[in-house]
Amino acid sequence: MKKVIKSIIYLSILIVSFHNYFAQEKHSSFKPGEIWKDTDGVHINAHGAGVLTKNDTYYLFGEHKVKGSRGNQSWVGVRVYSSKDLYNWKNEGVALKVTKDPSSKLVEGSVIERPKVIYNDKTKKYVMWFHHELKGRGYDAALVGVAVSDNVTGPYNYIDSFRMHANVWPKNFTEKQKEHAKKMSQEKLKWGEGSVHGVYFLRDFKSGQMSRDMTLFKDDDGVAYHITASEENGTLIISKLSSDFLSLSDEYIRVFPGGNNEAPAIFKKDKKYFMISSGLTGWDPNSARSAMADNMLGSWISLGNPARGNEKERKTTFHSQSTHILPVMGKKDAYIFMADRWMPQNAINGRYVWLPIEFEDEKPIIKWYSEWSLDFFDK
Ligand code: DGJ
Repeated sequence: MKKVIKSIIYLSILIVSFHNYFAQEKHSSFKPGEIWKDTDGVHINAHGAGVLTKNDTYYLFGEHKVKGSRGNQSWVGVRVYSSKDLYNWKNEGVALKVTKDPSSKLVEGSVIERPKVIYNDKTKKYVMWFHHELKGRGYDAALVGVAVSDNVTGPYNYIDSFRMHANVWPKNFTEKQKEHAKKMSQEKLKWGEGSVHGVYFLRDFKSGQMSRDMTLFKDDDGVAYHITASEENGTLIISKLSSDFLSLSDEYIRVFPGGNNEAPAIFKKDKKYFMISSGLTGWDPNSARSAMADNMLGSWISLGNPARGNEKERKTTFHSQSTHILPVMGKKDAYIFMADRWMPQNAINGRYVWLPIEFEDEKPIIKWYSEWSLDFFDK
């Protein structure tokens, strides 16, 4: 009898293993906007994601969303996946966990968005930055959070979340602009005009500047930058990080005051820095923007909408919003535009739109491909 039970158990294990093995679809292409299953057969749960490339592996970090509209708050934390080919992703667990401790800013139900991780070559630490909103306060807090780990997949130890640059002037705010901002602070302005005139900047000077949609960029010389939507999402702020990447240095600039840019993503090609960002329409898609600079803290020139295609595609960026631009290992001038197709009513169902970046007159452009693979870059 014992033998029969043992055989039944072995047989069941064999059947389940076979089933799991064959249920796993091996991907060999990108299909933007479709369900994208990980190696366990589950739709990838890493929204507002970023990728860290280390040795021969890519690590994808993103917001773990749950079902329904409560999925727009964080109930789990930041999830991490690994891949060697960019198509097939293995779930590596939760890199940064929210806590049940109500006295922690990182309590479940707070909002954690757009986590990005970079590696510090000197300290040998992995450093995660993310947009953080306090529980029950909507998007009012406008903080940036930092966490750190010795291991790429975590666990990441939460350091703190804060407003930026309290009592520090940016490099590109002239005396004349300060006078103008002071004068305009007395005027009755329409919503949004405060960022154009530096009024929101002055308002937050002592308590620290707001930080919402953000990203990180690590340059070839090991210097890293934080790029974020500030001043009620009206103005971008680009800041150099401290050398350990755990805080902001005092070196920073305001970019496109009143330009209403969200979702910034940066890449570097031929010594030039490129940014793709979005407009400001909540979870709804809008036209992307692009910009270029010779220096991260230099002057940024607007390059217009990078999306090519029909009107709807250009106006909605193929129904997506940028989150990261990924240089592909081992291929020259190969960059992937990574974006989210948000589903705020059922956040976990959000989709990923990954498209190759092409160049037109040396400017980055994006076209729609319903299916494509990395050999695109070999053409
Ligand atoms: C658009 C942002 O890009 C998202 O990350 C998120 O903050 C939503 N707005 C919230 O409305």
